[in-house]
Amino acid sequence: MVFSLRRAKRLQLIVHSFRYHDGKLYCDDVDLARAAESFGTPLYIYSAGTILDHFSRLNAALAPLHHLVCYAVKANSNRAVLKLLAEAGAGFDIVSGGELFRAIKAGADPTKCTFAGVGKARDEIEYAIDQGVYSFNVESEAELEYIDKIAGAKKLRAPIALRVNPDVDPHTHEYIATGLHENKFGIALGRAPAVYERAAKMRNIDIVGVQMHIGSQITESAPFADAIGKVAPLVMQLKSRYGIKFFSIGGGMGIIYRRALESGSGKWWHDHSGESSAFSVRDYADAIVPPLRDLDVRILVEPGRFLVGNAGILLTRVRYIKESSVKKFVIVDAGMNDLIRPSLYRSYHEIVPVEEKIQSERKRKIDIVGPVCESGDFFALDREMPEVHEGDLLAIMSAGAYGFVMASNYNSRPLPAEALVRGGKLALIRKRQTWEDLVRDEAE
Ligand code: LLP
Repeated sequence: MVFSLRRAKRLQLIVHSFRYHDGKLYCDDVDLARAAESFGTPLYIYSAGTILDHFSRLNAALAPLHHLVCYAVKANSNRAVLKLLAEAGAGFDIVSGGELFRAIKAGADPTKCTFAGVGKARDEIEYAIDQGVYSFNVESEAELEYIDKIAGAKKLRAPIALRVNPDVDPHTHEYIATGLHENKFGIALGRAPAVYERAAKMRNIDIVGVQMHIGSQITESAPFADAIGKVAPLVMQLKSRYGIKFFSIGGGMGIIYRRALESGSGKWWHDHSGESSAFSVRDYADAIVPPLRDLDVRILVEPGRFLVGNAGILLTRVRYIKESSVKKFVIVDAGMNDLIRPSLYRSYHEIVPVEEKIQSERKRKIDIVGPVCESGDFFALDREMPEVHEGDLLAIMSAGAYGFVMASNYNSRPLPAEALVRGGKLALIRKRQTWEDLVRDEAE
């Protein structure tokens, strides 16, 4: 898809709550240096305002459709985040019994939850049937048979949708492309009618919808439109044959990672290593609403990153500066165990000092690395930044999605804390783990 200049300009408008005031970085009214003093670092900080704003902008853009936004819990599953969205009326896309459990604990309505995933276990299926989920998004014939059997044993019926694989290239990182035939996900589009026919004969299965999800961090609308175009005839056929209620088009809307912070004062520097290409919610809606409206079924969308990605940062403190003959390393207190995206996908996150630097200050290329014992433990390589000193606080931007949820205890590092800014107040929503926590569940 070719972007016009006007549109490209519009893309630079980042809608989130992290801003400099008087040279200090704030999340809404909260001074991030003070947040670090209160709760220590590394610390994830999320803005409730940004999450809710994204949710309402997406709902507004999809208003012409009978639709439900089912937040993809995997992106950020802190209960405080789920509660915000549940109260705002969101449904949830869950991929495990644990996610369903969390969502229910946060006040989610199970009848607004869809259960996805290629390897659902017996106890997860039983729990989801008992809770009355809206739909199981089924990924294989073997799974369909298994769900039928489990529902039968309970003398209940399980609502299902098949996840179809439309074989569309989403032009994203290979690890998060899911809608190509070589990916493990879904049932090939051509095979789907026969599998639905089988499902229709199963005693304990109700056919309620059809689902797809072609990938994540998709930064153009064409793949969404292509996939909808490919699956639409099937939707019509299923509607007339089985009276399906919904078509879920999955998640995948990309966000802006580069230049994720623009200084209001104009003092901030820009990253010149690449252009952001994330498209706006308007572009997304323009591409998908017309073809979906014609289908006249309920439309589900499953955004994760779009709702929470730019609503969160990871705050970290510089521990040491180390210079070799060829490199300057800035060693921070967060590691790949806290935020694995740069190591795993080589993904770019903007990194900015919490105390704003003056643009004229000398810039240098530095590597920002963590304390973990791997060379892959980095947040930025050869990044041009103004001088950074020991003790400085840095904000790793756009860390609200797939940040904390992918954190681990690797190197026996306690999981970081999480905080939420809401209504001008900062609240701890997950305590930092302690060394005691690390060994608590182990047998001696
Ligand atoms: N629906 C399904 C069936 C999914 O598999 C996913 C994400 C979503 C919705 C939400 O996608 P989103 O709107 O967030 O793009 N860890 C990777 C991303 C993995 C995405 C997995 N599936 C990352 O950090 O980029």
